[in-house]
Amino acid sequence: MSKKIIAGNWKQNGNIKSSIKLAQDIILGIKKNNIKHEVIIFPPSIYLLSIKNINKKEIINIGSQNVSAYNDGALTGEISATMLKDSKIQYCLVGHSERRHILDENNLSLCEKVSRLRENNIKVIYCIGETLKEYKTKRTKYILNKQLQSLFKSLNNSKRSNKAIIAYEPVWAIGTGLIPSAKELSNTFGYIHNTVKRYNESNESIKLLYGGSVSPENAQSLMKTQYVSGLLIGGASLIAKKFIDICSTI
Ligand code: 13P
Repeated sequence: MSKKIIAGNWKQNGNIKSSIKLAQDIILGIKKNNIKHEVIIFPPSIYLLSIKNINKKEIINIGSQNVSAYNDGALTGEISATMLKDSKIQYCLVGHSERRHILDENNLSLCEKVSRLRENNIKVIYCIGETLKEYKTKRTKYILNKQLQSLFKSLNNSKRSNKAIIAYEPVWAIGTGLIPSAKELSNTFGYIHNTVKRYNESNESIKLLYGGSVSPENAQSLMKTQYVSGLLIGGASLIAKKFIDICSTI
C-alpha cells in the first residue's frame, strides 16, 4: 500500500527561531510516534535551507510554497525552479487559492510554473477548489473541470515523468472551520478522480489530497473519503502537537 501524504503549509507565518523549533518538534514527533506517512512541510522560502540543515536524515520532505514561472534571469524577487533544485527542495505548491485570489495568479502562469518544476524534477502539489460563491451557485464541478483541464494541458505537454499530486481545497473551507459534508466530499472526489482519468494521457498515478480546516478531530473521517490519499493542512500544521496528532490518527 502506498504511503499517505500529510503536508503542512505554513504560509507567511513564523520567524527563524519558531520555524526551526516547529520543524524540530515535528521531526521528533514523527520519530517518537513511529509515523510512516510521507510528511512534507512548506515553510516560508527564507527558512527553507535552515530547516534542511536540521533534517539531514530526511525524516521529513521539504517544499516551497511558490516558484517563478520563468527561468533564471532578470526577475527581481523571484525564486526559480532551478534554484529550488539546486537547494535540493523536493516539492512545490502551485495554484494555492491565496495565490489565485489574493495575488491574482491565473491558470496560464500556473501552468508555466508546473512546467518549470517538472523540468527540474520537483514534485508538484497543484491546488484546486471553488470559492464560496461558486459553491453556493453549484458551479464547483465546472470550476474544478476548468482548473484540471488547464493543469493537464501542461502535464500532457511535458515529456517528464514526475508524479503530480492534486490537492482539493474548497476556498470557503480554508481557515474557516467549515468542511464539506461526507456526501459532498465523496461526490466531489469521485468527480475529480474521473476527470483526472479523462484528461491524464500518461501512466502517471495522480494522488489526491484534501485541504481546508483539517484538524486532529476531523482528519480520520476526511481520510475515509474514497480517492483521498492525504491531507494538506494550514493552521493546524503550525502547532507541532496538532500536526503530529493528525499524522497519528490516520
Ligand atoms: P487551513 O487548514 O488553515 O484551513 O488551511 C488550509 C490550507 O490552505 C492549506 O494549504
